[in-house]
Amino acid sequence: MKKFAVLISAAVFMLSGCSGNESSLSEEDTLTQTETVSEILTAEESASASDTENNGESNILIAYFSRVGNTDFEADVDAVTSASINIDNGAFAGNAEILAGYVNDITGGDTFLIETVEKYPSDYRETTDMAADEQKAEARPELASSVENFEDYDTVVLIYPNWWGTIPMPVATFLESYDFTGKTILPICTHEGSAMGSSESKIAEILPDVNIKSGLSVRGGSVKNARSEVEEYIKSNLG
Ligand SMILES: Cc1cc2nc3c(=O)[nH]c(=O)nc-3n(C[C@H](O)[C@H](O)[C@H](O)COP(=O)(O)O)c2cc1C
Repeated sequence: MKKFAVLISAAVFMLSGCSGNESSLSEEDTLTQTETVSEILTAEESASASDTENNGESNILIAYFSRVGNTDFEADVDAVTSASINIDNGAFAGNAEILAGYVNDITGGDTFLIETVEKYPSDYRETTDMAADEQKAEARPELASSVENFEDYDTVVLIYPNWWGTIPMPVATFLESYDFTGKTILPICTHEGSAMGSSESKIAEILPDVNIKSGLSVRGGSVKNARSEVEEYIKSNLG
C-alpha cells in the first residue's frame, strides 16, 4: 500500500511537469531573463554549495545531496530558466543546501556535500530522465570526495531531495561507503509533493541495523521559511 502511495505521488510529480520549485519561487529569487549562468557562476565561487566544512570538533555530520553542486549549469539563459533553483546572496543554492545551512547553524556540525564524479545535465528534464534511469538500474554513481574521520561522528543528519519517490542514487552510494555501526541517522527530505516517499525505507534497506529516526520532509517552496521546523526536529531527535 505504501509503495502504491509513493508511486502515485511520484506520478503526480511527473504529471505536474517535474516543475521543481519554479512555481513557488518569489520574483526576487528567480533569475531574470537577462541574467546568464556565467554571471551567476562568478558569484557561485563563494557559495557554500561546494564547500566542505570539516572542523573535526563535532560529533554531528551534516551530509547533503542537492542538484546544485552536482550539475554543470550551461552558460545560457534557457538553462537557467529550466533550472528552477534559488538565488541566495547572488549564488545558486539548492533546497537541500539551505536546509543543511540551518542544521549547521543549529548544531555546529560539520557539513559535507555528497558530490558525484559525473555531473547531472543542466536541463531539468534531462536530469529527471537520468535519475529515473539510475533508479531503474539501482546504480551507484561514483562520488568525488569522502568524509574524513567518519568514525568520529555519532549522528549523521542526511539531507536530500526526493527523486522519483525515494533517495537519489548517489545518496545510496554514500550510505554504502562507510561503516554506520552505532550511528544515528536523521533524514531530512525536500520535495515537491511526495514528502519522504519511500526514502526512509530505502535507507533502512541499505543500513538494516542502524538507528534511523523518523524523518522530516520540507516542500521545496517552504525551505526558506523552515528554519524553526528544522530546529524543532533536530532538538527533539538529538535529545
Ligand atoms: C530527478 C528529480 C526527480 C524528482 N522527483 C520528485 C518526486 O518524485 N517527488 C517530488 O515531490 N519531487 C521530486 N523532485 C523535486 C525535488 O525533490 C525538489 O525540487 C527538491 O526541493 C529539490 O532539492 P534540491 O534543490 O536540493 O535539489 C524531483 C527533482 C528531480 C531533479
